[in-house]
Amino acid sequence: MIERFDHETTTDDVLDGMDLSARRFAITGTSAGLGEEATRALASRGASVLMLARDDAANRAAAARVRASVPDAELTTAVLDLADLASVRACAAEIDGRGEAIDVLINNAGVMACPFGRTADGFETQFGTNHLGHFELTRLLMPVVLAGDEPRIVCLSSSAHDISDVDLDDPNFEHTPYDAWIAYGRSKSANALHALGLSMRHGAEEVTAVSVHPGAIRTSLGRHLDDELMNQAIERGRQRAAEHPWASTGRRFKTVEQGAATEVWAATAPGMSAHHGGYLADCGPGVLGANPGENGMRPWIADVDTAQRLWELSERLVT
Ligand SMILES: NC(=O)c1ccc[n+]([C@@H]2O[C@H](COP(=O)([O-])OP(=O)(O)OC[C@H]3O[C@@H](n4cnc5c(N)ncnc54)[C@H](OP(=O)(O)O)[C@@H]3O)[C@@H](O)[C@H]2O)c1
Repeated sequence: MIERFDHETTTDDVLDGMDLSARRFAITGTSAGLGEEATRALASRGASVLMLARDDAANRAAAARVRASVPDAELTTAVLDLADLASVRACAAEIDGRGEAIDVLINNAGVMACPFGRTADGFETQFGTNHLGHFELTRLLMPVVLAGDEPRIVCLSSSAHDISDVDLDDPNFEHTPYDAWIAYGRSKSANALHALGLSMRHGAEEVTAVSVHPGAIRTSLGRHLDDELMNQAIERGRQRAAEHPWASTGRRFKTVEQGAATEVWAATAPGMSAHHGGYLADCGPGVLGANPGENGMRPWIADVDTAQRLWELSERLVT
């Protein structure tokens, strides 16, 4: 068994020796990438996994791939479109109707740097999908989660929180020119602040909430990246390197198994209540002031006043 986890730790390293046969997980965005890998790894240890995704056929295909490597995997699929609050509510009602608790909710789904668009409810796509859809799902599922055994909520954030704090005055780019990277950065700051906000409402003995940066992994998340967006990302990296001595020490890409390791660690490791409300990376706590491209975090995702105001704004927008 590996004693110390780091950048190269995989899902199977994290779960080595664990028996999860009594644990129930619900994961969003399981039709591909990190969500599918988290499902595979958890199911291989006996966990029951509720796979939530917007494309039912793709989600069932992912479940079939998981079953091909874990033949006795205990999986259920359900439709969830985070860009449509009616779908979020229908999904939450379906889960509630099963009458079974969820021990761990992993808010994993996400879109990155997409062209400007609006969700079914009129929110900017990245803020609406990555944050508000998960905020409403979590709000509605809270009784089901609180009924779980040592429950946890894991919110997928990103090192891209470094790009921008949330904008509580213009969250939907109604008065600001749209920038696909800034919108992603804002939404990933919101994901981290969501976990912090949960910790401000629930003690760790009730439910433990954390956010996670998985690392940089080549998945379908990059589907919207054209030359212009790539050049913007490179230029942003150059500017950051000029401002911060640590910025040039970027690490290489992770495999999908390494990328899903931190969310699986957050969802299963003993003692996670010590990180309640915190941001995690490389299977450990985030470090204020260190390189956000590694395990560093920016102060605005630890700001309780912003977390409170984002919570109040989110409640107003979804209800
Ligand atoms: N990969 C990285 O380098 C990286 C780095 C930092 C953070 N992250 C975060 O990690 C998480 C997982 O990313 P990934 O790399 O696994 O991306 P991915 O391969 O693109 O998977 C994303 C999943 O989210 C689903 N999804 C997208 N929009 C949705 C919606 N409206 N409703 C429900 N599900 C939706 C996707 O389904 P469709 O295929 O139907 O769209 C897919 O199942 C994201 O939150 C991302 O921001 C990833």
